Amino acid sequence: MDLLAANDEPILTRHQKYCTWTPRFTLNVNTFLVPEIPSNFVNAGGEAPGKTRFITRLSPRYNVYEAKEHNYTWKVNYQTWAPDCVQVNIISINEQYPGPTIRARQGDNITVKLENLMPTENVVVHWHGIRQNGTPWDDGTASMSQCAIYSGDTYVYNFTVDRVSWSLFHRGPYFYHGHYGLQRTAGLYGMLIVDAAGKEPFTYDGELSIILSDWWHKSTYEQAVGLSSNPLVWVGEPQSLLINGTGQFNCSATNKYCNATNTQCSPLVSPVQPGKTYRLRIASVASLAALNFVIQGHNMTVVEADGHYVEPVEVDNLDVYSGETYSVLITANQDPSQNYWAGVNVRGRDPKTPTGLAVLNYLPDLPTKLPTGPSPTSPQWNDYAYSKALAKKFVALKDHEELPPLQSDRQLILLNTHNKINGYTKWAINNISVVPPTTPYLAAMKYNITGAYDTTPLPDVYTPRDYNITIPPPNHNAVEGNDVYVFKLNSVVDVILQNANTLTPTINNSSEIHPWHMHGHDFWILGYGDGVFDPVNHPPKYNMANPPLRNTVALFPYGWTAIRFRADNPGVWPFHCHLEAHFFMGMGVMFAKGIDNVGELPTTGMGCGLTKNYIHMHHYLSTWLASFSKIMAINSMNNREKGIHVYGIAPPLGIPTARMTIKWALRGARKCLALDFGLNIHGDRVAGTRFQDGGPRASVWGRQGAGVGVGGVVVFI
Ligand code: C2O
Ligand code: CU
Repeated sequence: MDLLAANDEPILTRHQKYCTWTPRFTLNVNTFLVPEIPSNFVNAGGEAPGKTRFITRLSPRYNVYEAKEHNYTWKVNYQTWAPDCVQVNIISINEQYPGPTIRARQGDNITVKLENLMPTENVVVHWHGIRQNGTPWDDGTASMSQCAIYSGDTYVYNFTVDRVSWSLFHRGPYFYHGHYGLQRTAGLYGMLIVDAAGKEPFTYDGELSIILSDWWHKSTYEQAVGLSSNPLVWVGEPQSLLINGTGQFNCSATNKYCNATNTQCSPLVSPVQPGKTYRLRIASVASLAALNFVIQGHNMTVVEADGHYVEPVEVDNLDVYSGETYSVLITANQDPSQNYWAGVNVRGRDPKTPTGLAVLNYLPDLPTKLPTGPSPTSPQWNDYAYSKALAKKFVALKDHEELPPLQSDRQLILLNTHNKINGYTKWAINNISVVPPTTPYLAAMKYNITGAYDTTPLPDVYTPRDYNITIPPPNHNAVEGNDVYVFKLNSVVDVILQNANTLTPTINNSSEIHPWHMHGHDFWILGYGDGVFDPVNHPPKYNMANPPLRNTVALFPYGWTAIRFRADNPGVWPFHCHLEAHFFMGMGVMFAKGIDNVGELPTTGMGCGLTKNYIHMHHYLSTWLASFSKIMAINSMNNREKGIHVYGIAPPLGIPTARMTIKWALRGARKCLALDFGLNIHGDRVAGTRFQDGGPRASVWGRQGAGVGVGGVVVFI
């Protein structure tokens, strides 16, 4: 392990090419070779008969850091709960609401064994903001990455919290939530915090985590039926706004604060020491409302957004759209004899929902001491100019984040419209309202299962190009569809989201804010604008100097938002409006790339739609492969983030020939560099390939003898 020196080297800039990487440490390749194959190798290959295992894995950026395993068992079930003191049914995890916080460090591995105890409902859990690089089947999206976990069944999610960005990786607040029907609205969510493996560009004395949401008393089933009815029965505005799962409904009009004795709805009280600085990790899992977070008397300095560092921005209130996360620093520098309100208000919708409140408790004041003064206010709900100006202030922290490629290979212009299909109200993108198929896309694409989704080519841009965004759609009719945009692996894609008027006639603000979230990728926000996007005049004005990398971005009323991303994560990934009701009504698209580089999918995520047939075939194939044991294939080295990987296999006794084939997918890594790859006899390397540059596969043959093994050291960069 100590072969690698931890060093704090300068971050690569776009001028340094990813592929001309020179190791900054001395690596004695031979030391990494597998001297002999330990007897306890486990089979990492699923159906591969050879015994393989990871011997070690080192975190990228040369920090010598042993990744840790975090194992959880979650029992998901219905439960009665009273988030705002009104008792309703929710979906809980291990009888908790919000669900348990997952906390890990970059490069760690998370295993969640999810037991679906709900007697009448399937479930999935999505890890929002985690790229699932190399594990696209564990993205937790029903119909997309896996079959929903049936009532009574168990599924094991297993993924690494790491990130592609060469300069820095995954850290910061993320969250997880149900991604099936309206299960997020039903309360299935929680925080997922990834600590940085290295030094962060700011310091603090303590931390708090804040999860914001909106809350309805009407059951999510009633909401879902209403949304799928003709005429539409709209879910309406939320009854309350919650901070860490508690809120106040119908409290005294004066301060709108219930000092509840019921622990399920007793508001969050966060103790702080006067004079100290705190990092607040804030996430919004809201179903509908755009939110604004504010702390009475305290400014907040935003230092991170969606897990990427931003130039510090000082604000006295912060817009948080559903799907976004932020880290802000606050200093407890107010009069210490008082406690202070923290509050959350609705933005972008005429507010009918009272402020959700929590208390910042200056120690040693009593937590029960109520703050003086009114509950904190946010800017006017329809002050969009304020929101747009704020959004534009978030730019990447200099020298800490990867910058975008200067050119893109493909551009999509996606028009968001509110439509009707056979009288049913829908949202559509370029006139297509997405209806997720019964067979998950990932399995359908990976195993070429035909007939699983429709393959009519999707329009890259909307027609007609002179569509008038300022009036309700002249032709209300959209169509349903579930085709996929397929991108070349590693190509650079621009997406311009174009907003338009809703179906309601032009009265005040009949265009809404849509927070768009991309799975499997972060993207650079290149620009926002009002009106119709102009493909000639707007791109030259893109922010190429310091665009923020994010996974969620707001599309403002009657405006456009331009993003760029590198399609470098093999899998099928939804890109959708994060408002639960909007995605439910079809507001999303599917992006696929590099399916050939996706490893074998766990069969436990199959068994619905057309994958039922596939499971039988898969079983047959693996039996066949096992009997054909002369060939030992390792096809499962597909979970490979950047870093150094050492592995080996030993042929079963009595097998004269061993062949090791390693296929890898360039998912987290930009490139694979096989440093050494060879045959080992009694620990001496006798044959093989060294410094085989590139990929996507390498293989080595050897003759069996006592103590023979095949091993390799692969560096993914
Ligand atoms: Cu947080 Cu597809 O969502
Ligand atoms: Cu939306």
